[in-house]
Amino acid sequence: MDLRTLLDIDAPIVLGPFGGMSSVELTVAVSEAGGLGSFGLYGLGPDRIAAVAAELRQRTSRPFNLNLWLPFQGPGERAVRDGFDRGEFDRAIAALFELFAEARIEPSAWPVAPLPDFSEQLEAAFDAEPAVLSFVFGVPGPAIVEEAHSRGILVFGAATTVPEARALAAGGVDAVVASGLEAAGHRPSFLAEPESSLVGSLALIPQVVDAVDVPVIAAGGIADRRGVAAAFALGAGAAQVGSAFLATRQSVAPPVHRERIRAAEAHETVLTRAMSGRAARGLPNHAVRAIEQSGGQASFPLQNILTGVFRRRAAEDGRADLLSLWMGQSAGLSRFDDAAEVFAELAAGVPGRRH
Ligand SMILES: Cc1cc2nc3c(=O)[nH]c(=O)nc-3n(C[C@H](O)[C@H](O)[C@H](O)COP(=O)(O)O)c2cc1C
Repeated sequence: MDLRTLLDIDAPIVLGPFGGMSSVELTVAVSEAGGLGSFGLYGLGPDRIAAVAAELRQRTSRPFNLNLWLPFQGPGERAVRDGFDRGEFDRAIAALFELFAEARIEPSAWPVAPLPDFSEQLEAAFDAEPAVLSFVFGVPGPAIVEEAHSRGILVFGAATTVPEARALAAGGVDAVVASGLEAAGHRPSFLAEPESSLVGSLALIPQVVDAVDVPVIAAGGIADRRGVAAAFALGAGAAQVGSAFLATRQSVAPPVHRERIRAAEAHETVLTRAMSGRAARGLPNHAVRAIEQSGGQASFPLQNILTGVFRRRAAEDGRADLLSLWMGQSAGLSRFDDAAEVFAELAAGVPGRRH
């Protein structure tokens, strides 16, 4: 079925969720403009999720999407139930010592608080009753899909390859987000390493469309009407956009991050594990280079939690050299400061829409 009808939205434009960097302001702006606003719940406990959902509900009666990371364990990563390893922590802190000093902040102390429990996050997300629950890093199990459907919630899952798209469709999701290698942020691969799941949107979208019989949402490298038109020409039923929205004034990305998005050249972004322990696309900066050279980085999520300490200080101080500058290959196409203007530009690329 057409995603517009399925979601009761005016234009099939989806705001990409930003784990750790979503803002109610931006989510509401996109939903109110007639698209699907998304909010990334990564790292938020049940109380925060309930508070975010209440705020979203208060500010818009339009549909919105809440996004969760499944408790996926990549190669070399520890199982969440095992907690963190003291030796790994000590090595990572030693490797990050200079960066903490440059940020003028004390290194994190042992023990490190774990990420919020996934089942508690999920329960809170269900209770929020969003129009859509979207997932990254795997196929949500049948119990999750059933529970969502019984509450009238649609389920989306992200794929970086055709086999991942097939696995998601077999798992009963209502739409597949096809995430091309151009996309900003973490590469949500789950059947193979992200570095060997690097398919560009031009190749990925039509092959996913051919492989599954649910709507496909194209994500990665779309920043203006031309990208949206191309995604539809390839068979997508909606376009999901991250970087161009992250650069707007409704975003909570630090101003220096937003400036770098606009100024980025297409060839400048890299896929790196330095900042979080998992492969993500962004602009390489001093912190990325220093960590890659140190070789002492921890696995996900410990590395992400540890770098988060100096990243927060760097954001306050307006320092781009110590931030995670997540952005995609089309970041430099971002021209607008207002999310409604980005939305209008993108919607103009939807076939059959008058503008
Ligand atoms: C800072 C940041 C955080 C992100 N976090 C998530 C996330 O938690 N979950 C998710 O599904 N996608 C996440 N993404 C990916 C975006 O939602 C979106 O799919 C991607 O930015 C699309 O590529 P584009 O930037 O080329 O438009 C994130 C992207 C960025 C820039």
